[in-house]
Amino acid sequence: MADAIIDLRSDTVTRPTPAMRAAMAAAEVGDDVFDDDPTVHRLQERVADLLGKEAGLFVPSGTMSNQIAVKLHAGPGDELLMDADCHIYNYEVGAPAALSGVTCRCIEGTYGIIDAAQLEGKCRPINEHLVVTKAVCLENTHNRGGGKVYPLDKIAAIHRWARQHQLGMHLDGARLWNAIVATGTPAREWAKYFDTVSVCFSKGLGAPVGSLLAGPKDWIAKARRIRKMLGGGMRQAGVLAAAALYALDHHLDRLADDHRRARLIAAAIRDTPGLTLDPPEVETNLIWFNIGPELGTSFDVAAVLQRHGILIHTSGPRRARACTHLDVSQAQAERVADVIRTALKPRSVGQVV
Ligand SMILES: Cc1ncc(COP(=O)(O)O)c(C=O)c1O
Repeated sequence: MADAIIDLRSDTVTRPTPAMRAAMAAAEVGDDVFDDDPTVHRLQERVADLLGKEAGLFVPSGTMSNQIAVKLHAGPGDELLMDADCHIYNYEVGAPAALSGVTCRCIEGTYGIIDAAQLEGKCRPINEHLVVTKAVCLENTHNRGGGKVYPLDKIAAIHRWARQHQLGMHLDGARLWNAIVATGTPAREWAKYFDTVSVCFSKGLGAPVGSLLAGPKDWIAKARRIRKMLGGGMRQAGVLAAAALYALDHHLDRLADDHRRARLIAAAIRDTPGLTLDPPEVETNLIWFNIGPELGTSFDVAAVLQRHGILIHTSGPRRARACTHLDVSQAQAERVADVIRTALKPRSVGQVV
């Protein structure tokens, strides 16, 4: 893709910077399936420590990390509770059912956020006719919820309820880094309410690949076996872990820039008749918005923006998402805001502007 293109489709489209590539090239490596890779060890220890957990496991993707957690918490005939818009349920190809025989009971959240009160009565009694409720899965920040940060007091209340019912807690923290930077609340404060926490290095942090599952030592030992079963054992994975370590050193604090740039673009959306921010406030780097009929469809809007060198993600005819990330500069964010304000007029849809 040409460099002039401003790609807002996802925060996963970033390319490793020259400095990150240099760190990858210089990484000390070993065979990680033999548990011999020193760079992978460094990453696992560092992130487990950040999250206040005993151990961590480097895995190829956020999906694998979540699905290993599903297997740790539940098995065939068991059920997990989660909000209806979450990634585990919507975007992981039905893996809880397909790979683990696990049922997902979905609860309608508000922008992905559920209240402890909504969980009342959702833990099934022990009865031979019923699935066994095993754990609650939350997502922070919430992708389909518009990058919402899960309020910590709501997590604490859900944790209290879960423990009263002897249920586990899993966090899909693919973008936990954004929540940490947006609030100043440290990683371990969020993580302490969960048995298992998954984080990604390939979203806002700009690494090319990699996620990590953290939790108790004996759970992570089991997770290692499950990773092998799923084909996720990687050999000289230190080259990838080095990218993640580099990202933690150099790309974490700068997420604040992404959040500022997202708000700048959101302001232009707010000012544009026919576009509605949904949710109305942008808290992190994801901007979800709806398209009114006066601007045609989301596909028309995407086509107009594309003619100006800007790519967005469409999610149905009336909904779209734009993300800021490492490869969107301040000047590019300003350009996007300018194009939205000037090019997205009812007359422009379907015309070359
Ligand atoms: C909230 C959330 N969880 C998990 C994932 C899965 O990550 P991966 O694409 O690395 O499998 C994503 C991917 O975008 C995500 O947004």
